Amino acid sequence: MASIARLPLCLFLIILTFAIANKYPLRVIGAANNSVCDSTPKKLLCNFCLPSGNPHFVGDLTTQALKLVNCSLRQAVRADELIFNLCSLFPKNAELQFACIGCHGCLDAITNTLSSAVRNVKAKLFSDAREDVNTTIFYEKKCILLMKSSRSSIPYTILQALIYYIGYAMDANAAIRLLHE
Ligand SMILES: *[C@@H]1O[C@H](CO)[C@@H](O)[C@H](O)[C@H]1NC(C)=O
Ligand SMILES: *[C@@H]1O[C@H](CO)[C@@H](O)[C@H](O)[C@H]1NC(C)=O
Ligand SMILES: *[C@@H]1O[C@H](CO)[C@@H](O)[C@H](O)[C@H]1NC(C)=O
Repeated sequence: MASIARLPLCLFLIILTFAIANKYPLRVIGAANNSVCDSTPKKLLCNFCLPSGNPHFVGDLTTQALKLVNCSLRQAVRADELIFNLCSLFPKNAELQFACIGCHGCLDAITNTLSSAVRNVKAKLFSDAREDVNTTIFYEKKCILLMKSSRSSIPYTILQALIYYIGYAMDANAAIRLLHE
């Protein structure tokens, strides 16, 4: 279990992983037309997302952007579940409970804002959609801060889900930007 002292290192390693993934994108996943991933900041995540659930996924740019939004949402839901599980183990840890309630509120906000982003993409209101996606990144960062400030041991899986969320959301933002151009 990661202690709080190791958190900065952990985050650093995650960022490093992203940096390497961007420099050396793994084009391992077959049949999908993942052309949008060439233009996203977290290419590795993007290439993982698009064929997920359907290895033969082929979609136009709008469908690819919406799938990236879906992949973000899945990570947010996963983080929420993992955080709920952690908090149910420590019902008397007030600081942790506070962080968990806060993060759950962030997830609610993310879910609503991503729904708005999807509506805006479909209505071709692309800068509104990007603003929505950016707002969700802000909420997710808030959850990370809450978890850190709880001064509890935060399992790596939770941090991973939170960080992956941000990666997918950044990719979704970049994909929507392409639609805009
Ligand atoms: C992949 O999709 C792009 C647009 O998203 C399209 O221009 C291109 O022709 C497609 N390539 C294949 C092999 O389907
Ligand atoms: C995104 O998720 C929604 C709800 O689960 C689904 O209806 C939609 O088809 C998904 N879109 C893409 C592009 O995967
Ligand atoms: C969203 O964030 C990205 C990356 O920080 C930035 O380039 C973009 O301008 C922002 N878009 C909006 C609509 O806020």
